[in-house]
Formats: sequence, structure tokens, C-alpha cells
Amino acid sequence: MDEYAEANRRHWDEVVPIHARSALYDVEGFKSGQSRLKPVELAELGDVREKTLLHLQCQFGLDTLSWAREGAIVTGVDYSSVAIEAARALAAETGIEARFIESDVLRLPEKLDGTFDIVFTSYGALNWLRDMDAWAGVAAHFVRPGGTLYLAEFHPFASVFDDRPGVTGLRVHYPYFASGEPIRSDDDGTYTDRSEKIENRTTYDWPHPISEVLTAIIDAGLRIEFLHEFPVTPYEFHPAMEPAGDNLMRLTEHDGCVPLIYTFKALKPVIAGLKPDAGG
Ligand SMILES: C[S@@+](CC[C@H](N)C(=O)[O-])C[C@H]1O[C@@H](n2cnc3c(N)ncnc32)[C@H](O)[C@@H]1O
Repeated sequence: MDEYAEANRRHWDEVVPIHARSALYDVEGFKSGQSRLKPVELAELGDVREKTLLHLQCQFGLDTLSWAREGAIVTGVDYSSVAIEAARALAAETGIEARFIESDVLRLPEKLDGTFDIVFTSYGALNWLRDMDAWAGVAAHFVRPGGTLYLAEFHPFASVFDDRPGVTGLRVHYPYFASGEPIRSDDDGTYTDRSEKIENRTTYDWPHPISEVLTAIIDAGLRIEFLHEFPVTPYEFHPAMEPAGDNLMRLTEHDGCVPLIYTFKALKPVIAGLKPDAGG
């Protein structure tokens, strides 16, 4: 792991316990039976009963365990040992069957055998990875022939706007295009509570334009089934947002003009190199 990934991992180890007691993650609500999954991924992935599902970058497993409640046979992966420990504890406490593996996502093929009906990852995952081709290669590796890779992610275009404290309105501050160079942040606290005192404040992340992500997926041998963009988001990630109903947020100004999240579903051809509907 390079120095950037190490710094990020230290940050995640420190913030996971804060997240686990936050209103945003609402662990008590989850324990009482609520799902952490959002309507968009539930609708777009459909029936997961009896399907094997690999959740990449699962943090402390709330979404992973929510998929298990939907009937999937789940495996969650994260490189934060604190997150994986918390995920295992939550699975034990709630009596939900799940497997959790501590691993850098890019090194997962060294630790995990087999393939899955569904490989899933969501909201705030890709920005932590520098190399989209490497990520797409790993994700595709774990999709069984005929299986699905599904992503629900913050839209990279919505991430160009200045989000520093006190900023109102939309002003371009971060690049949309990938340069390979990380964006360094030294923010106070964490996204669930900016007033928390954090020792490992410095994080690095990378913008990934839609074209980069989709090209990486295609180059990894998957076929894009759909790409959807939405002007609402289940998570408030910019100060210039307001509630839109149904637990969604929208831009206060320019509502409807900017994509805030995107989703895609990609299929692995049944025979490598051939599209499932190629005929003949
Ligand atoms: C925003 S969270 C996960 C997203 C999920 N939607 C959630 O809110 O719980 C990002 C996660 O990615 C993990 N992560 C970042 N880089 C990683 C890497 N290279 N390998 C594995 N996990 C990584 C972090 O430890 C963290 O748990």
C-alpha cells in the first residue's frame, strides 16, 4: 500500500467508531430492522434472494448486512481492520449471516477465491482509489460469467464545487478530470460530525470522471447495461443542498441542473470476450 492509501486507512480506522455512533449511520435503527440501502439501488438491483453478493469497501457492514436481510449471501471487504471488526460484531449481534474480509480492495484476489452473482459498491468508494483500471480489473475478476457489477456513486461532476465551510452557492474548486495527482484534505472531524477531534485528518482522494470509470469497466471485459444520473442524492455532500423529500437532498439553487449521483450496471459476458447476446 502506498503512503496515500496508508494515510487514508489510518483515517478510516479512526473515524469508523465515530460513524458507528452517528445519527447518519443510525446503527440503532438498523438493529431494529431498518435497511440502510437506498431505494435507487434496491430498485435497480432487484431481487437478490439466494444470490451471492460481494460488497467492496463495505466500511462496518451496514449496507452489506442490509443486502443479507434482502436475502443475499453476502461477503463484505474493507481495508480498515476497525471497520471489519465492527462489521463482524454487528453481524454477530443481529444474528445475520455474513462474511467480512480485511483487505485492500486491489489485493483481494490474493485473499479471496471464487466469483459472485453480484459485485456491489456504493457512495464514497471510488474516490479513495487512484487507479480505476486496477479497480475495474479486480471488480470484474469477482463477477461470475453472466453476473453483475453494480455501482451507485456520487457524481464526479457534483464533486467539482467548493465545499469548504462557509461556502454558499456553486463555485468550481476541484478538477473534474483525473490527473493522477491526489487531492489532499485536512478537514476537521468527519462527514458525520465536523466537530469531532480527529488525529488522522489528512486524506487523499482522486477524481474519476464518468468516462474514466466506464472505459475501465469496458476494458475489464464487462458490458454496460445502463448508466443513470440523478439530480438528487441520499447523502448531503455539499452545503448548498436542501431536503427534497423521501430522504433525498437536492441543490438549493439550480435544482435539477446538476447530476448528484450516478449508477451503472455492467454484465460479464458468459464467454469471456463475447457479448451474451452476440448470437451464433
Ligand atoms: C464512504 S466508505 C464506504 C461507503 C459506504 N457507502 C458507507 O457509507 O459505508 C469508504 C470505505 O472505503 C474503504 N476503503 C478506502 N480505500 C480502500 C481500499 N484501497 N481497499 C479497501 N477499502 C478501502 C474505507 O476503509 C471506507 O470504509
